[in-house]
Amino acid sequence: MSDKPRKLRSTEWFGSADKNGFMYRSWMKNQGIPDHAFDGRPIIGICNTWSELTPCNAHFRKLAEHVKKGVLEAGGYPVEFPVFSNGESNLRPTAMLTRNLASMDVEEAIRGNPIDAVVLLVGCDKTTPALLMGAASCDVPAIVVTGGPMLNGKLEGKNIGSGTAVWQLHESLKAGEINMHQFLAAEGGMSRSAGTCNTMGTASTMACMAEALGTSLPHNAAIPAVDARRYVLAHMSGRRIVEMAHEDLRLSKILTREAFENAIRTNAAIGGSTNAVIHLKAIAGRIGVELELDDWTRIGKGTPTVVDLQPSGRFLMEEFYYAGGLPAVLRRLGEAKLLPHPDALTVNGKSLWENVADAPQYNDEVIRPLDKPLVPDGGICVLRGNLAPRGAVLKPSAASPHLLQHRGRAVVFENLEHYKERIVDEDLDIDETCVMVLKNCGPMGYPGMAEVGNMGLPPKLLRRGIKDMVRISDARMSGTAYGTVVLHVAPEAAAGGPLAAVRDGDFIELDCTTGRLHLDISDEELATRLAQVTPPEHAMKGGYQRLYVNHVLQADQGCDFEFLVGCRGSAVPRHSH
Ligand code: FES
Ligand code: MG
Repeated sequence: MSDKPRKLRSTEWFGSADKNGFMYRSWMKNQGIPDHAFDGRPIIGICNTWSELTPCNAHFRKLAEHVKKGVLEAGGYPVEFPVFSNGESNLRPTAMLTRNLASMDVEEAIRGNPIDAVVLLVGCDKTTPALLMGAASCDVPAIVVTGGPMLNGKLEGKNIGSGTAVWQLHESLKAGEINMHQFLAAEGGMSRSAGTCNTMGTASTMACMAEALGTSLPHNAAIPAVDARRYVLAHMSGRRIVEMAHEDLRLSKILTREAFENAIRTNAAIGGSTNAVIHLKAIAGRIGVELELDDWTRIGKGTPTVVDLQPSGRFLMEEFYYAGGLPAVLRRLGEAKLLPHPDALTVNGKSLWENVADAPQYNDEVIRPLDKPLVPDGGICVLRGNLAPRGAVLKPSAASPHLLQHRGRAVVFENLEHYKERIVDEDLDIDETCVMVLKNCGPMGYPGMAEVGNMGLPPKLLRRGIKDMVRISDARMSGTAYGTVVLHVAPEAAAGGPLAAVRDGDFIELDCTTGRLHLDISDEELATRLAQVTPPEHAMKGGYQRLYVNHVLQADQGCDFEFLVGCRGSAVPRHSH
């Protein structure tokens, strides 16, 4: 293969006839790899987040086999390797705690090994940002292959959505509308096939973000996990990554400022998760793109949400794929001149617009016309004020319109345990006009910024038929959750943010039209109270949690570690022996 246009990275390992080349090749040969695999052809890493403890990614070994077929067919050599797998449903205290850990694993695994380009096998929420962050810090050619969503959940003949059904059924249980037997009966039906959450939760959102950013082939986001076309997509991604290795089509050519602007606009159109705000910031930071919280206002505001999926709307990812998937949405946006940068380059070498200009659209209810949107302004609402000097966010498409401008009396929970103890108290002084405030659930406080911001309403109000109240915290919420929930308050309470100063009986004003979040006390009073706050003790004082608490950035900065921000490239000047 001496006619290759450029010398590939892996030849620094396998390309020499000396002692080092011997060592690198010889040990690999114990797997039965023939000589010609080392002739200078692209070595393609398949970065696999497979794990039986990450149920959403448990089918990934089969997915990897299809990627390998494509790689071999195109003249590359595939090498699959495992990385830390973040399973949203099992990991305590929250999978977010280890997103950065996984990203470090990915970065070092790619840079330290003889890999020319990499296929990122992602699915469950944190696996997508973690792998993109790690790969971006190395800036190698990379392509995302998502595992795909589960089939529609089923309960008593009706569709139910991952996560969203849990929140709904649990509230119904507390309101006395269903019994425990009915509640538990939903378990098997909700998760009945391989794949990620079938709602427009964080996993589906990040899959759409990967596609809108141009880091995957078209249709990557929506093909169901068990649909044979998912395996065809994996196969074709394997073929394409070999070409990308030859073309040196690195992530920095795809992940431009323009790509992130396209993604922000897309997030509004799909009614995507608030978690995307944090993850996109973290990915952008790794490739050297400046992205600010206010970009979400500037680019997202006024964008209609047209995808009618739970938790904001009615349908699930299966219907989304059958309706045309993300290409159909991007086409609608483009035709209305709402795609900020249609010329942005994608991994297949074509522009985003070239990929979607002819995309068919089969169902106007699932992907609605722009003049009949689910929500007229679906962009993430960024809030600021004396309660959130560095910002907070709210997802209007999942909120109650009548609460988007609201002034109410605060009922304060110092931490999650305090909330759990107090919320069931039938004598708690609370009504539906109150504002529920939860502290110490941010990046440092929890630690890991758990998805507890959509705290359940008091049972006594649920029994009266109350469905929503304003809730404010420094936590995140699941992308499958809904409600008028102010999240990501920065700085967080545990970092000395003003949230720590809120007391029962204070009044709080929320105004999503002006982006204001205000605690109705004087600056002097706020300062006096903050001086009296003692930060919470951390449950674990050593280990990874210490590294995390000492280095994590606040939500407005993407919760990356301060020392991980930036692109460090793929060069490793020294041999190992
Ligand atoms: Fe894994 Fe939702 S829990 S995708
Ligand atoms: Mg989640």
